[in-house]
Amino acid sequence: MFLNFGSLNLDFVYSVTHSVRAGETLASTDRACFAGGKGLNQSLALARAGGVVAHAGCVGEDGGMLRQLLEESGVNTETLLTVDGPTGHAIIQLDQNGQNSILLFGGANHRVTPAQIDKTLAAYGEGDSLIIQNEISHIPYLMTAAAARGMRVIWNPSPFAEELKSWPLSAVSCFVVNEIEGEALTGRSDPEAILDEMRARYPHAATLLTLGSRGSCYDDGTQRVYAECVEVPVVDTTAAGDTFLGYFFAHLDSHGAQKALQIASTAAGMAVSVKGAANSIPLAKDVYAFMEK
Ligand code: RIB
Repeated sequence: MFLNFGSLNLDFVYSVTHSVRAGETLASTDRACFAGGKGLNQSLALARAGGVVAHAGCVGEDGGMLRQLLEESGVNTETLLTVDGPTGHAIIQLDQNGQNSILLFGGANHRVTPAQIDKTLAAYGEGDSLIIQNEISHIPYLMTAAAARGMRVIWNPSPFAEELKSWPLSAVSCFVVNEIEGEALTGRSDPEAILDEMRARYPHAATLLTLGSRGSCYDDGTQRVYAECVEVPVVDTTAAGDTFLGYFFAHLDSHGAQKALQIASTAAGMAVSVKGAANSIPLAKDVYAFMEK
């Protein structure tokens, strides 16, 4: 079973010609509000890919639609708390090329406490997987407590910050990084060198490395496998990485790493061709149909 202890955001997406520069005032051409947050997106991707997933975290009173969306998608929300104060949100500038700039407000995501973590993890142990990102409070405590219970800890260090390097990373079973995060963790920039360095530093952990238009790779110490990305028109890259992560882990144990990479690449490609975060995450039946074409 997957437990995703992660963020939930309201994403306010502004369409712009280019991301606003320092000192510039820029008129947007459109505004929309979507469900988002790396945690929520990844839980939805796991569930839409067929995984059994529970989501833990915090929303404010204004986050009802995020809870509802998770439940409608089959995600268990019994460990999602409603707390005082506003739900987390993101202000996203979406440019003409489908690229984004994201400003985060943590809100309720920063109200996660060690007590909530202890209470939630009590129901999990060996055979269960914990998925975490970097948008909630007390992550070092969370990763240590989950590893102590024998859980597989899957960590996506996004958004990256220098302080992460001093966290108890030996608790992590699988790192999910893009090239920038991989370089920040290892000091290496070449993808093969990143994977080699991760293996040297964390010999018991696997690494899933995404390379944007150059595809993705996975190294678990016994195999290093690669997949190309799927060529699609880019509308909005938001949540593509989250979709990739959810689809990969939903298929890893049942289909093996190579096939899981291919399925995840297809799902992520489909996500970038739709505007928005959570709503761009495809259903498994549509991903499989796309792959058949
Ligand atoms: O990964 C995309 C997500 O990052 C957005 O949905 C936004 O909320 C931020 O958390």
